[in-house]
Amino acid sequence: MIIDPVTWARQGAELLPGKVRLIDQTLLPRELTYVELDDLEEIRDAICRLVVRGAPAIGCAAAFGLAAVCQHSNASSATAFLAEAAQTGARLASARPTAVNLRWAVERCLGAVRAAGAPQTPATLKQALILEAVAIYEEDLELCRAIGQHGLALFGGRSELSVITHCNAGGLATSGYGTALAPIYAAQEAGLSPRVYADETRPLLQGARLTAWELDRAGVEVTVICDNMAAALLRQESVGFAIVGADRIAANGDTANKIGTYGLAVLARHHGVPFYVAAPYSTVDADLADGNGIPIEQRAADEIRRGFGVLTAPAQVKAWNPAFDVTPAELIAGIVTEMGILRPPFTESIRRFLDSGPRG
Ligand code: MRU
Repeated sequence: MIIDPVTWARQGAELLPGKVRLIDQTLLPRELTYVELDDLEEIRDAICRLVVRGAPAIGCAAAFGLAAVCQHSNASSATAFLAEAAQTGARLASARPTAVNLRWAVERCLGAVRAAGAPQTPATLKQALILEAVAIYEEDLELCRAIGQHGLALFGGRSELSVITHCNAGGLATSGYGTALAPIYAAQEAGLSPRVYADETRPLLQGARLTAWELDRAGVEVTVICDNMAAALLRQESVGFAIVGADRIAANGDTANKIGTYGLAVLARHHGVPFYVAAPYSTVDADLADGNGIPIEQRAADEIRRGFGVLTAPAQVKAWNPAFDVTPAELIAGIVTEMGILRPPFTESIRRFLDSGPRG
């Protein structure tokens, strides 16, 4: 594992009792600090404030968080416990609206406890919750490794190939290996020397603070650029491909990801650079026909006016701060998944992908 942004910290030999353990990503790259939580509002707040962030990582955090909170339940019957768990799950799932992995992980955990075998008592259901959370976490590790292996093909064996990415879809955004960065780690493990341009990713700098930190730490050559430099870079330098993660992929391939991803995709198309998305099945929302239905999180204006506490615009002016945008499927060359690289037309390749195997 490259990094451990979200894990289960058990307090003894058994899985329970325990807490969800998070790297506080708001403090990176200055310091690597962990927090351990088992309080509902503290876990929800950690997801809202991006202590833990990235679609698969917030799914894992919600799954562990649900188990951490529900272990303290005083419910006297299985029915009362299930009702409490559903309420806790709904509260966690409402922390951020765009990444479908959050809702998916909560629903999967609740489904597992509802389906748990007899005897159904609060004690057995608490155990079922943590077992499902561990399963989600371990599955995500495997999915990311498989994405890396399939994405390795994009390098075509070329050493020192440059790629560009946006935001952080690395180990920090998942259970530890990444989606968009997984092919880069796989290339490095295969003896290639990939070079990565990391968009800084305004306004919260996940590219500069997090992607650059984890790639540098792993010994991958990384160059940070301001978001507004991508056009000049693609024009002047040789960049093999662009690759980003996803927060939600609609049935037709339209993809929500960090604000600025759409702009990078347009630039890549203009410069003839193939643009890839990397994501596991848990990021696909087959209920949405296209990207128009994806809810986009709006964040506080002060993230723009007072970035990291420094006044960067007049305090009284308005600021528009959507956290994500939607890249139309027509700009995407392929979606790198745990089952292979999906190609257009995505409506068909995504349907085949989702039908292709028992997962979850
Ligand atoms: O607001 P964030 O930092 O949670 O946004 C994260 C992204 O947009 C990632 O690219 C996405 O979640 C994929 S993570 C593998």
